[in-house]
This record gives sequence, structure tokens and C-alpha cells, in this order.
Amino acid sequence: MTGAEPLAGAVFNPPGALRIELSLAPEWGRIEFIRVAVGQALAAVLHPHDDRIDALSMVSAELLENALKYGARDQRAVGFTVERTGDPIAITVENAVDAASPHPDALRVRLAWIARFPSPAQAYLAALRDLYGDERPRGSGGLGMVRIAYEGGCALHCETPAVDRILVRATLAGPAAPRSSGPVPEDPGDAGERLRRVD
Ligand SMILES: Nc1ncnc2c1ncn2[C@@H]1O[C@H](COP(=O)(O)OP(=O)(O)OP(=O)(O)O)[C@@H](O)[C@H]1O
Ligand SMILES: [Mg+2]
Repeated sequence: MTGAEPLAGAVFNPPGALRIELSLAPEWGRIEFIRVAVGQALAAVLHPHDDRIDALSMVSAELLENALKYGARDQRAVGFTVERTGDPIAITVENAVDAASPHPDALRVRLAWIARFPSPAQAYLAALRDLYGDERPRGSGGLGMVRIAYEGGCALHCETPAVDRILVRATLAGPAAPRSSGPVPEDPGDAGERLRRVD
């Protein structure tokens, strides 16, 4: 390719399209960089005040924490993708699992449990009651997935692309939140500061 040719993505994708694809070494210290990078990339294509930025930064961190916590002990890399071609934004994490690991089943059970509630808010309240009321059934999981469904506003999906791998996808559908309307400031100001801050 010569320097004069346009990038294919710039020609075929609508403005605001986004694709981040990373293969990460499974090290805890990398998660914070991804959380901030996802926020920065979304602020660039959405609006710096869009509620989806914080929501999907949190979702990225929750999914990656799980991939490291429950992934195979010797896994070499965790796959991480953020994709937006239209309105929905999808975050996908794929990790290896140990043979006979109970975690893929525990995850499926957890997602089915969340889906039984009429709303993610009710699932979240029930999960809090289980956790703090000390009535948590064994193997029911903690708060990560219900946070993604309720605070993150995402639909959750998991599949096993191979016997020793699990893929989890969180998809945030729908139009922009009201906060994100209005012109994008030339200088992101407070929003830029918020994104730069790593605390
Ligand atoms: N990427 C993954 N690979 C394998 N198992 C997973 C994965 N993500 C989640 N799980 C399983 O699903 C369960 C529920 O996950 P969830 O994030 O909701 O809770 P948690 O990780 O147990 O607690 P918390 O997120 O509050 O620390 C986990 O306990 C684990 O057994
Ligand atoms: Mg978790």
C-alpha cells in the first residue's frame, strides 16, 4: 500500500464506528489501562459526557477481571474486543478455561438466573440481598454480571467456541442517553480531565 491510499475502514465505516481488538497477557496491571483506553476511545466517537463511557469502561474491567480470575492457570492471552458499527456497542472477552473447570457452568447458571427477573434492577437487588443477607447459594457468583446487566445496561451472552475456551459478550443497545446530546466541545474540559484521571 502506498501512503496515498485511504484506509479501507475510513471509506466503508460510518462516522462513529469503532473497533478495538487486543490480545492481552493475563496480568492484573493491564486491566486499568484497558478501562481508561476504552473510555478514551468511546469519548472520541460518542460525546465526552455520554453515560455509556463510564458504563462500558466498568463493563470492560469486570469482564477482564473474570477472565483472569476464572481463566486457565496457564493461559497465554485473553482476547478483548470493543465494536460499534451502528448504535449497539459490544464488548467481548474470550479466555481459556482449565479442563473440568466448574466456572463455565457457573457462568451459564448465573446468566440464566439474571434472565429470570423481570428487570436487571430486580436481579441486582436480589443479588445484593443474597450477598449481604448471607443467603448466597453456593456457586451462585458475586456481583459482576448483575452489575454489567443493571449498572452497565448490557445484555449478556456466553458461548464456548472450543471445549477449553469461553467467550462472554456484553452488548449495550439503544440510542444515546439525553446527557450526550449537544455539540462536542472543542476542548473536552472537565470530561477530558475525568478520563485522564486514573484513580
Ligand atoms: N470469563 C470467565 N471464565 C470462566 N468463568 C467465568 C467467567 N466469568 C465469570 N465466570 C463464572 O461466573 C461466575 C459469576 O461471575 P460474576 O462476575 O457475576 O461474579 P464473581 O466474579 O464471582 O464475583 P465479583 O464479580 O463480585 O467479584 C463466577 O463466579 C465464575 O464462576
Ligand atoms: Mg466477577
